[in-house]
Amino acid sequence: MTTVVDRWNIHPDHRWLRGQRPASPVEFDEAQGMWCVYGHPETMEVLGNPGVFSSDTARLLPVSVDPSLTEGDMSQMDPPRHRAFRGLVSRAFTPRLIAGLEPRIGEITDGLIADMDGKSEIEIVADLAYPLPVIVIAELLGVPDSDRDLFKKWADNIIEGFSQASFMDASEQGEQDLRDATDRMQPLLDYLAGHVADRRRHPREDLLTQLALAEADGERLTDNEVVNVANILLVTGHITTTMLLGNTVLCLDAEPEQFARVRADRSLVPGAIEEALRTLPPSAALARGTTREVKLAGQLIPKDQMVYLWLGAANRDPRQFELPDVYDPARSPNPHFGFGRGIHYCIGAALSQLEGRVALNKLLDRFPVLRTDPGKPPGFFPTADMIGVNSVHLQTS
Ligand code: HEM
Repeated sequence: MTTVVDRWNIHPDHRWLRGQRPASPVEFDEAQGMWCVYGHPETMEVLGNPGVFSSDTARLLPVSVDPSLTEGDMSQMDPPRHRAFRGLVSRAFTPRLIAGLEPRIGEITDGLIADMDGKSEIEIVADLAYPLPVIVIAELLGVPDSDRDLFKKWADNIIEGFSQASFMDASEQGEQDLRDATDRMQPLLDYLAGHVADRRRHPREDLLTQLALAEADGERLTDNEVVNVANILLVTGHITTTMLLGNTVLCLDAEPEQFARVRADRSLVPGAIEEALRTLPPSAALARGTTREVKLAGQLIPKDQMVYLWLGAANRDPRQFELPDVYDPARSPNPHFGFGRGIHYCIGAALSQLEGRVALNKLLDRFPVLRTDPGKPPGFFPTADMIGVNSVHLQTS
């Protein structure tokens, strides 16, 4: 069977995407100096135990990271501080509020699809999968969505910087590469700082104002914390959703029978998106650090060790998933880790799922034919901890 992974030669490093199981669910990677977790139950155990597997991993890195960059980053926090921060942001992501966005998401999608009129070929990332989530999150935050070309330029530049740097390389060159990568974040941070300063003076009805005026543990967030929260929402809030939309189209394109099934029965659309998240998770790896010695899958992991969870491997663990390498939109249950699990479960999951569902349905309504252009292979983000497209050319006739 030729899968989407073989067809487009996705990430040769991620051998588990090609049906090769790692020898053991937990292994120590000598070269990287960290523990790798590949199994489903083991990933569940790690994500369910934040007291032992801490999200504050910066303290374990052999390189120095400017602490001002992680201030306010809830994904790096442990309880109780994590709870306070997450509470602030999750107020803007309640299920009711997200469900209420559906008409607006539909309207934006209609506009983007109308712009494709007359084209015999579309590039699904530039034409839909990028602008849709970025417009939605920019509107929620209250920054002008007309600046989206700037966000893209900055985000692509940041990703490229981190693709050339490693948090585990303490050599002089390694430190320099990391400094270069983090320097690339500055224009976006400066841009957001300008908006935060404006909201402190002129509050508006937007998420940026809510964050600027909010308190965690009885204290107002600092400007830098608000900027970092906004940065995470803006950048992680759209890159991953862009990849998810593009990856779903690629998976369907690679499985014509499943594509026809989803076209004919739209109740399978949410399942098609979940299967794309399972088989090609945009967030491919999560990091944790041990706070004490702990046994995992029979292996004794000492205190203060870096632990990497390879979600694409856990999502294909045959102990959990029948025929794990088969893309099946009707798979149920589907307990994948595409959005993580436990206290750090993705805050934007419902928003991404909604955007994906609306966009895919409207795309199928508008185009009776959609297939990849064999002469123009899709492009992928260059880092190992992301699995996702950054361009997919589709023929529409
Ligand atoms: C397909 C799209 C997305 C994917 C695959 C994804 C993936 C993830 C994953 C795997 C985590 C868990 C991180 C961990 O445990 O360390 C996470 C957390 C998070 N995600 Fe998403 N995400 C997506 C969309 C979004 C969106 C749209 C937003 C916001 C607008 C968002 C904001 C966040 C935040 C703030 C966290 C940290 C939560 C915490 O630490 O409590 N994500 N995401």
